[in-house]
Amino acid sequence: MCGIFAYLNYRVPRTRKEIFETLVKGLLRLEYRGYDSAGVAVDGPKKTSNDLNNTICLIKKKGKVKALDEEIYQKDLLDLDEELCTHLGLAHTRWATHGEPSALNSHPHRSDKNNEFVVIHNGIITNYKELKKYLVTKGYEFESDTDTEVIPKLIKYVYDNREDDRVTFSTLVERVIKQLEGAFALVFKSRHYPGEAVSTRRGSPLLIGVRSEHELPTEHIPVQYNSGHVKEEVQEKNSHNKPDCSNAINSVGDGRAVEYYFASDASAIIEHTNKVLYLEDDDVAVVKGGQLSIHRMNRQAGEDPVRAVQTLQMELQQIMKGNFEAFMQKEIFEQPESVVNTMRGRICFNTNTVILGGLKDHLKEIKRCRRLIMIGCGTSFHAAVATRQILEELTELPVMVELASDFLDRNTPVFRDDVCFFISQSGETADTLMALRYCKDRGALTVGITNTVGSSICRETDCGVHINAGPEIGVASTKAYTSQFVALIMFGLMMSEDRLSLQKRRMEIIHGLKVLPELIKKVLSLDEKIKIIANELYQQKSLLVMGRGYNYATCLEGALKIKEITYMHSEGILAGELKHGPLALIDKHMPVIMIIMRDSCYTKCQNALQQVTARSGRPIILCCQEDSEVTKNAYQTIELPQTVDCLQGILSVIPLQLMSFHLAVLRGFDVDCPRNLAKSVTVE
Ligand code: F6R
Repeated sequence: MCGIFAYLNYRVPRTRKEIFETLVKGLLRLEYRGYDSAGVAVDGPKKTSNDLNNTICLIKKKGKVKALDEEIYQKDLLDLDEELCTHLGLAHTRWATHGEPSALNSHPHRSDKNNEFVVIHNGIITNYKELKKYLVTKGYEFESDTDTEVIPKLIKYVYDNREDDRVTFSTLVERVIKQLEGAFALVFKSRHYPGEAVSTRRGSPLLIGVRSEHELPTEHIPVQYNSGHVKEEVQEKNSHNKPDCSNAINSVGDGRAVEYYFASDASAIIEHTNKVLYLEDDDVAVVKGGQLSIHRMNRQAGEDPVRAVQTLQMELQQIMKGNFEAFMQKEIFEQPESVVNTMRGRICFNTNTVILGGLKDHLKEIKRCRRLIMIGCGTSFHAAVATRQILEELTELPVMVELASDFLDRNTPVFRDDVCFFISQSGETADTLMALRYCKDRGALTVGITNTVGSSICRETDCGVHINAGPEIGVASTKAYTSQFVALIMFGLMMSEDRLSLQKRRMEIIHGLKVLPELIKKVLSLDEKIKIIANELYQQKSLLVMGRGYNYATCLEGALKIKEITYMHSEGILAGELKHGPLALIDKHMPVIMIIMRDSCYTKCQNALQQVTARSGRPIILCCQEDSEVTKNAYQTIELPQTVDCLQGILSVIPLQLMSFHLAVLRGFDVDCPRNLAKSVTVE
């Protein structure tokens, strides 16, 4: 949902070419967030005749980042070898929400034809129509169809109407964000404040990486509180009853060479530095004279007055494609390791104990609750569907599974003694985040199941589990699903530790988890066979996926994978519902994948198989190894190792991940960047 990246070098000489390379590389890392157009803003050639002797140059292009990169080098208005000692460059890759994909609608957006202020934005401004109307009456001319464009126009309006020429860049931004409704992460650049960057966020992610040859002076950046008004700001300096932030400005950077990287997520920063700080909602971070400071409005009760500089554990290699054709393929093949990383340090296979550090202090409260509500979107919702049955069994609590958007649409009743789980790979999905705030407001305990350290869901929940699957770049979620699955199962195991009647079951599952990585490897070894089947299917229009019980979630998830990257119509069908409608779709032309594993639904699934074959259907069956009962009725079979019933879904989903990948490649589509989709959906 749009990726933003900015690079500021202070007293670090960089050629224009090096700056472009840094910006483009940052965008390439964020491209999974949106890829319909891209743009950059850099300082333009110096104009000596102008009173503002610095200019800003915008280069924007419809299409992927590669197209922008080519455009940059075609424009020879800039001397690529020119060295810029201190400079701020902005970059953006877009996923359209308002206005079609085009160079004009792409970011950075500007205040006016002189590019006095330019901005990059991730999020959505919900009151943009009112703001636009007002600004138009004041004579400001708009050139795009976007919501974002009101922001640079508004800052210019505030600047044009300033009462004091000493007004700071951050004060202008603070005044602007007071008027904005919706979600945003923003980085501003201005001709009036050369070499300065101002960034802020509300609801959309934003972090800042710092690279410096010398030790960072502190691990914590104090937050400077002010009212956002120049006059009052001046008075505040002498005021005794305001927090003393006199050292805030000097927290990072002290006039020595330093580089700053602003990005929507850590994957764009990690190759430059592992020292980052995550901004909180309504923080205004300013880099001026090479020094970073954080400002905000008046301090709220319970608010942390510092922002910690954290050390990222992520490795660059984790976000590289290696020998794989696509990130999605790499991530599918990473699953033997990613599930281990989810379990690492949390399961003791000798004592059959499971400890999730992020939940242990809340365990008593969770055990006393009235019900568990699992909330997510898309694949993350499917992880809840996949584990619902075993969670009901192990926790002996009612478990509701909810799509975040629908949960909110229904104003679902939530009570103080509910425990609400928010499952999200990115930790930034707007629907899930809104549902989290809704549940928090009603006093429920909130638990995050996320893959992104420092994400909004991570920070806003009372407690949680980090699934540790590693960065997931492919837009279609794969390894995050299996890790969410494992994390939720571990939660069930932790909850049932003192239930005598459940010990046998627990031991069986814990053993299943122990051997899971080996079994996943066996499933992955079926890749060639799956590719052959994909070759037979790729020209079809539709593909049904049918199953029930523990494998129903696999049907939903498999169908979602197929539709999102192959653009084929695909439906996950609960086999129990077959005769209530979907059977009408079955004939000899309709491809159907059926999941028939040896569990409590085996006989019922066989009945569904009979119904399909009786209508001349030609099922491709996912079943346990050597199951001659079902293979004799199959058109094709994919035989999987058998595991404990509640873990089987982890194994059965992998062939469908692989199938969707091969189908998409055969159909000639970009697997990692499916049309119309983005990795992190930060709008409702
Ligand atoms: C499908 C997919 C999406 C996401 C959904 C929620 O492959 O990736 O359906 O699962 O947008 O995203 P997160 O998990 O980041 O909240």
